[in-house]
Amino acid sequence: MKISRRKFMGSTAAAAAASPLLFNASASAQLAADDIDWGMGFPDGATLLNRNENPIGPSQRAIEAAKVGVEKSFRYADSILIKSLLAEHHDIEEDYILVGAGSGELLNIAPMITMSEPDHNMVATWESYRAVPGRVERLGHKVKWVHLLEEEKYEYNVDRLLAAVDENTRLLFMVTPNNPTGTILSFDDMHKLADGLPDHVLLIVDGAYTDFQDVDKDGIDLIKGGHKNILVTRTFSKIYAMAGLRCGYGIGHPDVMKKISRFGCGPTSTNMAGFGAMAASVGDTDHVKKSRDFVSRARAYYSSECDKLGLSYMAGPPNFFLAETGEYTDAIAAELRAQKIFVRPGAEWGMPNHTRISYGLDHENQTFFAALKEILGA
Ligand SMILES: Cc1ncc(COP(=O)(O)O)c(C=O)c1O
Repeated sequence: MKISRRKFMGSTAAAAAASPLLFNASASAQLAADDIDWGMGFPDGATLLNRNENPIGPSQRAIEAAKVGVEKSFRYADSILIKSLLAEHHDIEEDYILVGAGSGELLNIAPMITMSEPDHNMVATWESYRAVPGRVERLGHKVKWVHLLEEEKYEYNVDRLLAAVDENTRLLFMVTPNNPTGTILSFDDMHKLADGLPDHVLLIVDGAYTDFQDVDKDGIDLIKGGHKNILVTRTFSKIYAMAGLRCGYGIGHPDVMKKISRFGCGPTSTNMAGFGAMAASVGDTDHVKKSRDFVSRARAYYSSECDKLGLSYMAGPPNFFLAETGEYTDAIAAELRAQKIFVRPGAEWGMPNHTRISYGLDHENQTFFAALKEILGA
């Protein structure tokens, strides 16, 4: 649909009024649980569709185990013990696995073990999750960006990725399914990429959303098949809905994992609540199905609402939706924010005409579309 400028006049002041609040308790107070700001600084009654959280929450089993973990939290947890569960689940030796405080811990460490000289660079996709390339740039290294192209339907193009690699490249970072486009790197393309990389390049396959899709084979199979320079990362934040417990892991050749473990992902990266919840969740096919069913329903609803509004979109397997909201994308986000509805305008991924919306519960999704329709005058 055509979105006119007139609709966005005066949105900035209204948006400012609904910006996240600061935690305003006095420093000396010991708050009761009811007085704690569980909204994490967002205004009361906010609809949070901006952080790719999974609102169905952890399984009951995970919650019970986490509660026991809290009672036992006078002790340090030992994440090494989780490795045996993950090893069995993925049918791989324990020394191929490291557990971290979210998959983010492994991703944060990867540049440290690979980029030792100032002229070392990394190859990454522009229209993608920026945490790792952002860190690499802050460390003073160059990121060689490869674009996903609209005319290629935002598909990965392995030849262009490989063409960007040079003798100074040390990391190539891939997210599949991609955040925010949902684009999938097929196993054949992943294989081609891994085979085409020189030995001095570590291929990171960020699989934060892998569990939302059915795959016969993935990066873990390449590692099992003998590829030494691949790091696959996975998380409990998304499919198991445990983002706030900070539980993730990586799989790679023991030589890679040994290097990572020099900088983190040690026994105490896990907290006792997360330890319990992870142990109760590894391979929980019921909860995986529940999350996938939730996403299928939400995706169908978002697709049908966007079809009615005449908005184009991309919606892959993960728990988010990317709508083409045009040149007034930032103004739309500001108007929504003024109504305490939080979404993610796409400029941060080089997609300024798109908005990423993380699926909420039914009533939250309805709140979002009611507000969007009003804003667009539809
Ligand atoms: C693509 C991608 N990778 C990694 C992460 C970080 O996940 P974790 O919570 O496991 O640190 C996110 C979080 O949104 C993500 O979108």
